[in-house]
Amino acid sequence: METKLSVNINKVATIRNARGGNVPNVQQVAVDCQKFGAHGITVHPRPDERHIRYNDVRLLRPLVYTEFNIEGYPNKSFIDLVLEAKPEQVTLVPDPPEAITSNAGWDTVKNWQMLSEIIATFQKAGIRTSIFVDTNLKNIEFAVKTGTNRIELYTEPFATNFPNNPIAATASFTEAAKLAHSLGLEINAGHDLSLENLKYFVTNVPFIKEVSIGHALISDALYFGLENTIQLYLRQLVK
Ligand code: PXP
Repeated sequence: METKLSVNINKVATIRNARGGNVPNVQQVAVDCQKFGAHGITVHPRPDERHIRYNDVRLLRPLVYTEFNIEGYPNKSFIDLVLEAKPEQVTLVPDPPEAITSNAGWDTVKNWQMLSEIIATFQKAGIRTSIFVDTNLKNIEFAVKTGTNRIELYTEPFATNFPNNPIAATASFTEAAKLAHSLGLEINAGHDLSLENLKYFVTNVPFIKEVSIGHALISDALYFGLENTIQLYLRQLVK
């Protein structure tokens, strides 16, 4: 099974916003990522619009002809934006507005009812859903109850432990992926994946449909250029 690469372009918007103009051009970068082989574009609009703005999402929609994935905390303005943009996929994350980046998955045991209502709304609009979870097996079991199509495994703990003990770093992810797959969920993964750890992750953890990668990929592009960098990441996904 091929694992798809969705490029998270939030960091590009962070650089643009540092100067107030339109350099680098976020929309052009999305077009070029696709031209260079990315299978999808991910954005994470936050309420303070400190990187991707709500209007970026509107401008990106007609330009993203691969898979558009909008991720974020499902408050009212986020839900309205997603329903307006109708991306191919929405990924729900539990991070509060002031979080620097997502730093935990959903407690699906506590939140499955709330999530199931929002998920039903998106699915009715023809939007595939994914929810961000850690590898706790109870959270995987309750993710099924939400009716979501996919989960996204939060890979930061893998990335942290990988340099010391790669086998131990993947163990809980393999177990979670096997359980999720057996329960009928499709599986994405993301957070702190990089050229160093990506190949090991996707060759050792089964059933990963898609990875979304931002920070490391955009940083690598400073050295290798965007086209080469995307090619390098795509090569890690060949098993
Ligand atoms: N997945 C989710 C839910 C995220 O919030 C982020 C960061 O915005 C990513 C994936 C990508 O993480 P990174 O920027 O570390 O590649």
